[in-house]
Order: sequence, then structure tokens, then C-alpha cells
Amino acid sequence: MSTTAPPQVLPQANDACWCGSGRKYKRCHKPLEGRVVQGEISPYRPVPTHIERPSYADTGQIIRWSEQRVKTPEIIERMRHAGTLAAEILRLAGEMVRPGITTDEIDAFVHQITIDAGAYPSPLNYGGYRKSVCTSVNEVICHGIPDSRALVEGDIINLDVTCYIGGVHGDTNATFCVGEVDPVSRKLIEVTEECMWKGIEAVRPGQPVSDIGKAIESHAKPHRYGVVKAFIGHGIGEQFHTDIQILHYYDPRANTIMRPGMTFTIEPMITLGTWQHKMWDDDWTAVTADGKRTAQFEHTILVTDDGYDVLTGGEGAVSPTAPWNH
Ligand code: MF3
Ligand code: CO
Ligand code: CO
Repeated sequence: MSTTAPPQVLPQANDACWCGSGRKYKRCHKPLEGRVVQGEISPYRPVPTHIERPSYADTGQIIRWSEQRVKTPEIIERMRHAGTLAAEILRLAGEMVRPGITTDEIDAFVHQITIDAGAYPSPLNYGGYRKSVCTSVNEVICHGIPDSRALVEGDIINLDVTCYIGGVHGDTNATFCVGEVDPVSRKLIEVTEECMWKGIEAVRPGQPVSDIGKAIESHAKPHRYGVVKAFIGHGIGEQFHTDIQILHYYDPRANTIMRPGMTFTIEPMITLGTWQHKMWDDDWTAVTADGKRTAQFEHTILVTDDGYDVLTGGEGAVSPTAPWNH
């Protein structure tokens, strides 16, 4: 109901919820057994003034303008630079993942290394988002906000890194294990990364973008995994999100034809149970409706004359199953 923080002393299960909804605490804000509980969010981390800022950085308002879908070679080279940096930051952030570290500490690290590289951390103040990276733990599908919660052995965590440099964004994410993780979650992570690659391998000029979702969905299906529908891949370039939509499931209406020079992300979110989501009161954190775990991987892709190029790939990228690691 309300968006205020819970009080220090929590009600008993059958008492009225602290939020004022009039419902019993146990039917309202009482955390369910084994679910992620939100911690404290630390103050805004400033970005030095010498770093070029995207349009929303000061106001938090996302203003969209029309941006060419097919990029010039010059923009593509800038995007490759932003993408390579995002991939490197993601890899380094992934190395921080261990039991006991808080997601806020990961945020502080990502924020600092992004700035040190001369880039702006794209999530910061994007539509009012308050942190420099998204940290999504266990049943959190995406857009988890870094906070004081310490990672626990057995957790899984997605880190979604985007940076803005040279006037363009590079966007990439991966899911990591916290210490020893159960085989069911490990399999989910493995298949989710495969789903992303199946989607990427479907990128071909002249074909509709629905081929991407078709490939992802067909790979998830035999495992009886869910494919999240509410969050999709997106065009990217001078803006974090442009009008191109990349569904991760099959819909024949996704009939945009891929053209050489187009740039977009492919970022499937795959679940152990339902594909449906619920939102936390913070209006950012999306969780699976059944509380089961979910994983995600993301790359920024360029359509080439005969297929695709991964702008967030290369030597420094984190993907163990990526083609360049074969
Ligand atoms: N990086 C996310 C994506 O893949 C977007 C995060 S928006 C934020 O599209 F505001 F939460 F940062
Ligand atoms: Co994205
Ligand atoms: Co992202």
C-alpha cells in the first residue's frame, strides 16, 4: 500500500499491517519464508562534473526523441567502446560477488570504476532510479536496487551494468552464483545463458525480430521454464532505450525487419516457475509472482550484413559459453 519504510518494531502476524492497508500483516507486508527482504538504500552517489551526463541525469525525467534505427559506422564504433567498457565493468563486478558482501558495496564499486573509466553509470537517476547498477537476487527478475542486504551463500544474483560514454550507451548483464549454489538454480543459469545465445544467433538481416523470441522460447520450453513477458529487449544508442522492442517469446506481430546497422539488446529473463511478475512497493523491483528463482543474461547486439556482432562481447566479457571463449 504505502511506500514508507517498515517500522523498527514489526506487528504480529495477525495484527493490522504497519502500512495502513487495513489488512493483516501476514497478508500484506510480512516477508515470506526464504524470500528476499529489502534492506536500507544508501544516499545518492555523485558523479564528478567532468563526466559527460546523459539527458536524464539531472532531472530523472526520461525524454525520448526520434533516433535513427540504423546507426552510422561512427556511432557503431562509439557504441562498441561503451559496450566493451560495460562488459569489463560487469566482469569486475562479478568478481566481487561472494557471501557477506552487500549489494550496496557492489554498487559503490561499479559506480567508482565507471567514473574512473570516464563514463557515467547509465542507471543513475534514469527515471528516478537511485543507483548505478541493478542487483537482482533470487526471485528478483530485474531492476533490483542495491541496498544493505548481504549476499548469502546459495543466492544467485544478476548484475546489470550500463555505461554512457562518447554520447552512447552499452548495456550488458549476467547472473552469478554466491558461493555454492544448488543444482536446480545452476541449471537455470546455464539454460538462461543458452537462451540468450539462441536469441543472438537468430539475428540476421532481412528477418523479423520475432525470430529472436521464437528461438529463446523454444529453448526454454523443454525445460518447462517460464519466459518473462513484461520486460523486453530494446533499441539502444544515444538513448538507453529506443523504440525497437525485442520480445523474448514468440509473437508474430513482432514483424520489424532486422537491418544492418540496427542496435538492440537481447536480455531474456527465465524462471523456474511462472512467467508472471509482481512489483515491490518501490515500483522498481520486479519479482516472480510465485517467488521461484529467475535468471537473466544480456548483450548489446549489432545487426551486420550477414548476421550479428556482440558490442558488449570480446575478451573482457564474462560469458563462459560465449563463442569467443570456444
Ligand atoms: N539495464 C536495464 C536494461 O537492460 C535497464 C535498467 S533501468 C534502471 O534495460 F533504471 F533500472 F537502471
Ligand atoms: Co537492456
Ligand atoms: Co541492462
